[in-house]
Amino acid sequence: MNDMRIADRKVSTETAKMTARGVQVYYGENHALKDVDVDILSGTVTAFIGPSGCGKSTFLRCLNRMNDTVASARVLGEIKLDGENIYDKRVDPVTLRARVGMVFQKPNPFPKSIYENVAYGPRIHGLTRNKAELDEVVEMSLKRAALWNEVKDRLDAPGTGLSGGQQQRLCIARAVATSPEVLLMDEPCSALDPIATAQVEELIDELRSQFSVVIVTHSMQQAARVSQRTAFFHLGHLVEYGETGQIFTNPKDPRTESYITGRIG
Ligand SMILES: Nc1ncnc2c1ncn2[C@@H]1O[C@H](COP(=O)(O)OP(=O)(O)OP(=O)(O)O)[C@@H](O)[C@H]1O
Ligand SMILES: [Mg+2]
Repeated sequence: MNDMRIADRKVSTETAKMTARGVQVYYGENHALKDVDVDILSGTVTAFIGPSGCGKSTFLRCLNRMNDTVASARVLGEIKLDGENIYDKRVDPVTLRARVGMVFQKPNPFPKSIYENVAYGPRIHGLTRNKAELDEVVEMSLKRAALWNEVKDRLDAPGTGLSGGQQQRLCIARAVATSPEVLLMDEPCSALDPIATAQVEELIDELRSQFSVVIVTHSMQQAARVSQRTAFFHLGHLVEYGETGQIFTNPKDPRTESYITGRIG
């Protein structure tokens, strides 16, 4: 771990953008998440790490109510965005997901053109007034996702015709197009080559000046490079949460130490 390039350690002093308290998730009888408490800070990248099946994706999906779409899932506890309970009956999950956007591990572009994939969100949420403004948002979003140069001459081509890595960057462009306040990314680089990975990591760093970013990653190097906070999950528990440098250099829990040194996972 010594050769790891550790990200700058400036931890935001800002307040929590999202707070989770006593979160439990059941899939039928399977108790997948057990009593999770965590704060997602403003202007901060938070990494979720831990072995396969420990509940990282499950918890990420709780943060924008994507588990609502899983019939067997039951979510208990409290999750707030800007102090407001996101599971309140008055909260519209579609509006919530524009504020808390998500990028999935497997790229899932709509069966539409590259342009329409990115324009979709701003259009349904009425974020632009005319075609020129929409064009601008599409261009800006594709630039932020490091895809513009590769697609600017074929915006009308189908998004599904791009390579896997390009499709993932298209999905990132689609997610940032609605200017979410929180961006959830579930292993966003697993389909990307090292160059695109570096570009996405750069984007993540840029995004945190405006948004909170939560990233699930199996790469310890990536967590150390991009995040300021790290949460280590193990068997449904959030074992340890803290400043990224501390988690990687001086973990308090022996399970965290075993994982980051490669003994479990
Ligand atoms: N849609 C689902 N229906 C039923 N059970 C699920 C579902 N999604 C996850 N689970 C279960 O919840 C537990 C946690 O899974 P989850 O996908 O959150 O883990 P993870 O930490 O993201 O793993 P990985 O690193 O492999 O992506 C596992 O036991 C899994 O089988
Ligand atoms: Mg997962």
